[in-house]
Amino acid sequence: MESERSLIKELLSNYERNRKNLIIILRELQDKQGYLSTEALLEVSEHLDLSPSEVFGIATFYKRFRTRPLGYFPITVCLGTACYLAGGKLVLEAFARELEIKEGEITENKDFSLSSAACFGCCTQAPVVNIKGKIYPKLTPAKVEEVIINLRNELPED
Ligand code: FES
Repeated sequence: MESERSLIKELLSNYERNRKNLIIILRELQDKQGYLSTEALLEVSEHLDLSPSEVFGIATFYKRFRTRPLGYFPITVCLGTACYLAGGKLVLEAFARELEIKEGEITENKDFSLSSAACFGCCTQAPVVNIKGKIYPKLTPAKVEEVIINLRNELPED
């Protein structure tokens, strides 16, 4: 926790207290932390002398910002038109059922998180899922359990 705080303070010290720096600060914080924690957002609001609600509003408005941590295996199901029509929503629901989390959540053990995106640019493989940067083409709800079992076997030992 202390190391997180010092990382935030150090990063903020590179930026003058000006509202125009808000987006770039949030972007850099997310690159460093993987997401925007509540503590980080409060520090940013104090540093820029903005209200917490304004900073939280910006962080939750833009889709590129995450306010929740990702799992070791972040699972992103494409819900772009081609994937949606090919059953992407059913695949998303199958992951949610299998992992017992909803879209936007992370499993308690932090192994998996689940989200959706618009299009990965490989629509001919629809429906596709991106897991930790690897594309899984033509996924069906029936294949989801097997995918999860294989990923569990790839988890690092504690
Ligand atoms: S719509 Fe899913 S990859 Fe394009």
